[in-house]
Amino acid sequence: MASSQQEHVSQLIQETEGFTLDQVLAFLADRYPGQVTFSSSFSFEDQVISHQILETALPISIFTLDTGRLFPETYSVWNKTNDAYQTRIKAYYPNNALLEEFVHAKGPNSFYESTQNRKDCCFIRKVEPLKRALAGNAVWVTGLRAEHSPGRGDLPAFEWDEGNQLIKFHPLLHWTTEEVMAFIKQHNIPYNHLHDKGFISIGCAPCTRAIQPGEDFRAGRWWWEDSSKKECGLHVTEQEPGVANSLAKIV
Ligand code: ADX
Ligand code: SF4
Repeated sequence: MASSQQEHVSQLIQETEGFTLDQVLAFLADRYPGQVTFSSSFSFEDQVISHQILETALPISIFTLDTGRLFPETYSVWNKTNDAYQTRIKAYYPNNALLEEFVHAKGPNSFYESTQNRKDCCFIRKVEPLKRALAGNAVWVTGLRAEHSPGRGDLPAFEWDEGNQLIKFHPLLHWTTEEVMAFIKQHNIPYNHLHDKGFISIGCAPCTRAIQPGEDFRAGRWWWEDSSKKECGLHVTEQEPGVANSLAKIV
């Protein structure tokens, strides 16, 4: 990271020390007008952030990445959120040509066959649309929490995202699951009912299962893969060369 970006991030950490969720979101909206965006997967932590933005009409845009393979429960909470807050959360979709070529070549469920196929599917359905969603923004707000996985435990709340060339901010980084649920209940916020059925971390339907008590929060994501670093590419900076090359041919 260039030293000016490091200084910028360090300054934000200092300036917002001790701020509550509403204070820090309002501060960012004011500091970067029209350039703060929040990505929601409609998980319970994301619903806390959406509530804060929508309830106080903060000028922070909200988007979701509709992979086309989400759970019916996820579409349902999306719809309820639109209704509850009289809003329309913007969806980004995979590039048509790229998805058609990929599914035609590999079949609809190729993610079970190899990690490369899985990463390619995540790149097409999430990472490439994410790049379009983030374009033109200065700050990307996420619902990442330290409790999700050991890798996320080390994250700073503000970080420079070299791959996307913006500041990434995780306002709920140190919130516990109990705190998230208590906030949801207190404010009567619509949430994904899969959370009541043993699902903690919820992604695409074919790639997410419920977890057992005591299991790692992300054990239910891509559970067939033998890997301690199960990330889909949204929150890592490296590109998948295979897919990046085919994308370059198509778009
Ligand atoms: S992932 O990398 O494994 O898919 P995870 O489900 O833990 O991510 O979610 C962490 C954060 O990434 C969410 O709080 C949200 O900000 C963002 N995110 C994940 N999936 C999506 C999605 N489909 N649409 C928009 N944002 C998402
Ligand atoms: Fe494809 Fe599964 Fe990744 Fe969703 S989570 S984009 S279905 S591999």
